[in-house]
Amino acid sequence: MVLRTIENLDVKGKFILLRDDFNVQIIDGKITDGFRIDQSMPTIDKLKRAGAKIAICAHLGRPKGLRDMKFTLAPIAQYMKIPLVTDCLEKDFMKDMKDGDVVLLENVRFYPGEEENNPEFSSRLASGFDIFVNDAFAVSHRAHASTVGVTKFLPSYAGELLMSEIENLNNLMENPKRPLLSIVAGGKLSTKIGVLKSLIKLSDKLIVDGMIGTAFAVSGGANGGDFKVDAETLQAARDLTEFAKQNDCELFIPIDKGVGKEFSRDAIRVNKTFSEIQSDDVIMDSGIETTKRNIQIIESVRTVLWNGTLGMAEWGDVWGQSTFEIAHAIAKQTSNGSLESIIGGGDTVTALEVAGVKNDMTYVSTGGGAFLEFIEGISLPGIKVLES
Ligand code: 3PG
Repeated sequence: MVLRTIENLDVKGKFILLRDDFNVQIIDGKITDGFRIDQSMPTIDKLKRAGAKIAICAHLGRPKGLRDMKFTLAPIAQYMKIPLVTDCLEKDFMKDMKDGDVVLLENVRFYPGEEENNPEFSSRLASGFDIFVNDAFAVSHRAHASTVGVTKFLPSYAGELLMSEIENLNNLMENPKRPLLSIVAGGKLSTKIGVLKSLIKLSDKLIVDGMIGTAFAVSGGANGGDFKVDAETLQAARDLTEFAKQNDCELFIPIDKGVGKEFSRDAIRVNKTFSEIQSDDVIMDSGIETTKRNIQIIESVRTVLWNGTLGMAEWGDVWGQSTFEIAHAIAKQTSNGSLESIIGGGDTVTALEVAGVKNDMTYVSTGGGAFLEFIEGISLPGIKVLES
């Protein structure tokens, strides 16, 4: 796959529509981890130095096509110290732009046309620009107007972050050191069935944890407390367990959990095995015994691929215990040269940052879903359209 890049592109005085992924965690108006933004800076700086006029197009959250100010990009514009254009289809700002200027367009998902990849919306978004640059690896698995639609209207190129993600992930995945362990945790199992299948084929060992792990445990008859799961998900977990057996991938599910009596960061944490969990227990982290076992597995392998926090790590040490402990274990093994570690996923990367171990990993991707689909071998639509 050869992509058109910005390497030798003449951009002086040209209006560039630059797609970045700034979908970062914002709490009380403050960005908790600017990793995705910081990783986007080399392309922005390169285009600035080359004298382009840059309008960055980005999204935050899932405002469902509505102008919901809970999802405004204002805190991001503030973090980057650049002006915010309050409507992504507005073009007035262009007349005041000088070479090397950069602005941020308001959340592109405020319009339904974005996620619908609507041609009229794409054309309006692209109008006035000379060139489109996609540097948003993390959203390139979405065939949206700002990743795919606009490429019908503008000469389109891959930015430096996008290229670096592809090169690094390809290098690490082409010939991984074995045994290879994948750790998949976080939210809904239904959204990760495809990637779990691919990882089962690719990996020697697979740890499932977080809510996904709980679904596997419940599918085998464990009591998940107040955890709600539908019959279809339970069947998917059983099918994946069988699929792992057929593919010689050793599957590890959680054996205990950190629980409280209410879904709150202030709840009192108790560690319980699945047989001790009561129906009013709320699971908010993986358990102590599970974590010990997970660390032993990490210490026995040569490559770890990790996506998804194992509990409510965003609430700090009490409910982030298992996530932070395995982050430290992976960092230690990577630092002493025993392990190659590849980490992806917004919340996971934020947890690495909080644990202070992000720089100890072999490679940290800005992608979450995109990272998983790329690893899965799926051709990402936002990248495909940049092929030369
Ligand atoms: C991400 O955070 O993984 C990307 O920005 C994509 O977000 P989405 O899952 O809401 O499309």
